[in-house]
Amino acid sequence: MSTTRSFPEGFVWGVGTASYQIEGAVAEDGRRPSIWDTFSHTPGKIAHGDTGDVACDHYHRWVDDLDLLVAMGIPSYRFSIAWPRVMPDGRTINQPGMDFYKRLLDGLLERRIAPVVTLYHWDLPQDLEDRGGWRDRETVELFTEYAVAMGKEIGDRVPVVTTLNEPWCTAYLGHATGEHAPGLTDNALAYEVAHHLNLAHGRAVTALRGILPAEAQLSVTLNLQEVLPATDRAEDVAAAAHAEAISNRIFLDPMLRGSYPVELIDSTAHLTDWSFVRDGDLAEVSAPLDFLGVNYYSPGMVTATPGSTPWPGTDRAWRHDMDAPQTIMGWAIQPSALTDLLVRTHRESGLPLVVTENGIAGHDAVGADGAVHDTHRIDYLRDHLAAVLDAVEQGADVRGYFGWTLLDNFEWAWGYDKRFGLVHVDFDDQTRTPKDSARWFSGIIECNEL
Ligand code: FCB
Repeated sequence: MSTTRSFPEGFVWGVGTASYQIEGAVAEDGRRPSIWDTFSHTPGKIAHGDTGDVACDHYHRWVDDLDLLVAMGIPSYRFSIAWPRVMPDGRTINQPGMDFYKRLLDGLLERRIAPVVTLYHWDLPQDLEDRGGWRDRETVELFTEYAVAMGKEIGDRVPVVTTLNEPWCTAYLGHATGEHAPGLTDNALAYEVAHHLNLAHGRAVTALRGILPAEAQLSVTLNLQEVLPATDRAEDVAAAAHAEAISNRIFLDPMLRGSYPVELIDSTAHLTDWSFVRDGDLAEVSAPLDFLGVNYYSPGMVTATPGSTPWPGTDRAWRHDMDAPQTIMGWAIQPSALTDLLVRTHRESGLPLVVTENGIAGHDAVGADGAVHDTHRIDYLRDHLAAVLDAVEQGADVRGYFGWTLLDNFEWAWGYDKRFGLVHVDFDDQTRTPKDSARWFSGIIECNEL
């Protein structure tokens, strides 16, 4: 016999998207290229040569997409602003681009859907990349100016602002492994980029505090990794601790405590001398936050024995396959790792947490009956929501959950092959078909119970 379990009162439910993954319209109304336009148009970088040129054509179909949110009973919507749409050269306001987001925000508010805005979900203006991108400290200044401009333009409409989405991906996948834009492959760069992202985050938080209404909430979204050693051998345990330091603590410690861990500095000394950290930076990085956004998909297993895939950013820890079922991304499915991650992160940070992304990809197709029977997604979501409840029972202050994602979309280096949406998108004619999981998720939201 199954019993129902309730989520905390006031639990925030939502779904998320990101600008480059859904908007399309990459050359309209003054938008200039981002690093993802350049990267996706570089042969060999994206599966099947896919690009975000059209994506879900959300720039033109946003009214229908907001109506979909209403039909699904979604109370909160997390989306990102395309910096190159509102400031095409990274510094000059482009009013038509700004107006798009004002219309979108007004559309959400009219529908009584609470917006959660991310300022940076990876689409850096290419003009800034040409000047050094996140390797250049000037980008920190320009990001702060962009945040201030957004605060002034839309601050009256957004109750929740997130500075960065997953700076780990920008630092390591963008600059060490080269899987993401701008596609650089130098481990040493990742650390400088991570510091500049940390500083950009902290400065933006402080600047926005002075502009946004007092009740506005400020946060950052991190893809914290639950890093597990492959064995209990001392070398593997040390490799896991190293991976944990370069993946999680490199962001958490400066943001929450105003310092970089000594183990991080020591274990990367052969790559960088950290001289890019200037006096006063860390006080700026640690600007107080209202909550921490956590994106979670899968744990990672680490070994000290060199293998085929190094852990991003290092040659001292290697990925190790886990003995667990995998998604079509090759990501291990282990909900208990989400529980452990939330419990530990809350204990260590003292901050309220929101799961800002969680979901699963499939090769979902519309069947002869006109429906998409994505039971694999319902199973994944159910098990991970149960994991969130387990974390709450163990004392983690988890205040919300955003499913990734509203629509099948441009899944970065994987292109359109991997469908994460609750709503199926036919990329030939842009038809949207809510999957079985969308109806299931609506039911959970409606009763706030699992
Ligand atoms: C996260 C990204 C998001 C999406 C999911 C699957 O790393 O933030 O845009 O691609 O993975």
